Amino acid sequence: MLLCCEDLVVGYNGKPMLPGINLQIRRGTFLSVIGRNGSGKSTWFKTLLGMLPPVSGCVERTSERVKSAYVPQTSGIDALLPVRSSELVQWGRLNGWNFLWPFAKKQDRHTVRAALESAGATIIANRPYRDLSEGQKQRALLARVLATEADFVLLDEPTASMDAVAERETMQRLSELTKGPRKLAVVVVSHDLEVAAEFSDQILFVDKDAPAIVLGDPKTVFCHPAFRHKYGDDYCPVHPRAHPPLPGNPLGPTAG
Ligand SMILES: Nc1ncnc2c1ncn2[C@@H]1O[C@H](COP(=O)(O)OP(=O)(O)OP(=O)(O)O)[C@@H](O)[C@H]1O
Ligand SMILES: [Mg+2]
Repeated sequence: MLLCCEDLVVGYNGKPMLPGINLQIRRGTFLSVIGRNGSGKSTWFKTLLGMLPPVSGCVERTSERVKSAYVPQTSGIDALLPVRSSELVQWGRLNGWNFLWPFAKKQDRHTVRAALESAGATIIANRPYRDLSEGQKQRALLARVLATEADFVLLDEPTASMDAVAERETMQRLSELTKGPRKLAVVVVSHDLEVAAEFSDQILFVDKDAPAIVLGDPKTVFCHPAFRHKYGDDYCPVHPRAHPPLPGNPLGPTAG
């Protein structure tokens, strides 16, 4: 186990926003956080990271050495900063960097290259960050997180500006990292329920009006009455609606 929330209540100025959260983040797990706009997902993230004090309860790391990396919903990186994407990713390796020897070590250069490749960002590595499209910026930021040696990564809507193919590739890559030798723990906020259903081991559904948070495997969460109440049956990705074939559609089930 890397991190644990015990009866954690989050909110601003001492006012609770969500019911208490009890959960453990373990190595090798992929947890998606879902909920409607303004439901408190980013607030929970900020509390996990210590950027916001809990209203009550606590967040505990199992060891001081557990390292986390975070990509906020809107990046704080100054878009006017004239850095190349590869330099931005290099910042993810700053641990151990010093002014007397300000050049990247060979191992670091290799890690940066691999992170850029993993994030599908090699092609933009030499372009100034400020000139990238929003989806390309998200790829560069993802590469920066992958270049760190974090035990778990928290990503707040990391694929919101990506095209559908890039989004799936990103989630696929993150999922591979959870199952590979690194056993990364991934916690990701996403509004794409289909993608969350496909890649997550666990889903956390948060909602201000629900009596309790809902945590479980995708099927459990998407069938839960609290989720259904907020999203309705049409948005449940584990029971996709059967779309009747269009008239004359040769690919319809009656073809052939
Ligand atoms: N600094 C703040 N002080 C008080 N309330 C805040 C503050 N920041 C956000 N809020 C409020 O907290 C609520 C939850 O916000 P939060 O950003 O956590 O939602 P979210 O689930 O991440 O939404 P989205 O899907 O739109 O990103 C919102 O009603 C928001 O207005
Ligand atoms: Mg948010």
